[in-house]
Amino acid sequence: MPTELAAIYAPVEADLARFDRLFAATLRGESPLVQPVLEHLLGYQGKRIRPGLVYLSARAFGRPTEAHDQVALVLELIHNATLVHDDILDEADLRRKLPTVNARWGNETSVLAGDLLFAKAFGVCAKIAAGPVLASLADAAHRTCLGELTQTRRKYDLTVSEEAYLGIIRDKTAALFAAAGLLGSRLSGADPQSAEACRAYGHAVGIAFQIVDDVLDLAGDEATVGKSLGTDLAKGKMTLPLIRLWSILGTAERIPLQSLLLEGHGDQGRAFVTGLLSEHDVLAYARERAREFSAEARTVLSGLPGSEARESLEALAEFVVGRSH
Ligand code: IPE
Ligand code: IPE
Ligand code: MG
Ligand code: MG
Repeated sequence: MPTELAAIYAPVEADLARFDRLFAATLRGESPLVQPVLEHLLGYQGKRIRPGLVYLSARAFGRPTEAHDQVALVLELIHNATLVHDDILDEADLRRKLPTVNARWGNETSVLAGDLLFAKAFGVCAKIAAGPVLASLADAAHRTCLGELTQTRRKYDLTVSEEAYLGIIRDKTAALFAAAGLLGSRLSGADPQSAEACRAYGHAVGIAFQIVDDVLDLAGDEATVGKSLGTDLAKGKMTLPLIRLWSILGTAERIPLQSLLLEGHGDQGRAFVTGLLSEHDVLAYARERAREFSAEARTVLSGLPGSEARESLEALAEFVVGRSH
């Protein structure tokens, strides 16, 4: 885990340690044929941002309870399920510095292992008595899937606007972050206005996070990020830098880019696109948009009572835009 993140998580270190034990326990107990796949997933060391957000939002108002653990587990299980499935779509072979499930066991096992993670999330939901909590979790899961689905339906569609892109990432990424902020705070007794602030904070941080992820996909270093990069371009996903580039190019300049976006042309094609991205400074543009969402997230927090957890939430909003991993 990056050292900046360890410092940010300091107020919830014990909560995340408990979370790790519960998460491992949730993934254990299957047959010898299935368990190795789950053990492989347990070997992944993710950033645990969604659980971190649940516990930090909780500690901004009180103490985390068993209900917080359940919400954190459900969100991380959904997140992991979508990653296992997403790696199939992307034909990715590296995730969290390890081979993806599809690289190791193939697509069929990956589809089913992702489904198993969703089923495990249902199992944890069965322990949650509160209807409104379940409704928020269901809504977040629904949106995550819708965002991925809409993105897939719009592959190779060069008319995707910045607004449509923001709609996609609001669903596929920010919905889980927003649920983490809302439920983390609400379950520790935050008043409705403060819980809404934590939801809005999670939402804005989630958008900033995905914009930076999309920048890293085009310009990051695989060894540092620890996952396969370049897959958005290879799979025709119009992310913010490409949308911006397309919007500022003239008709004649668009012709070679269009053919590369639609047909690829290997390393040479990639190098051509990378050259255009830097020539038109569109990665800086995207990072700037991410910084705007990060600033919005920090502004929203200003109405909350002062605490160490709130300071960490502020730092987390900074971290997601500054990160190179
Ligand atoms: C990766 O999420 C998928 C995106 C929403 C971009 P994370 O970067 O939070 O993944 P892990 O859990 O830390 O690996
Ligand atoms: C996020 O998008 C995936 C989900 C929300 C499921 P990405 O496709 O950018 O995620 P990575 O980059 O593969 O982790
Ligand atoms: Mg992907
Ligand atoms: Mg990505």
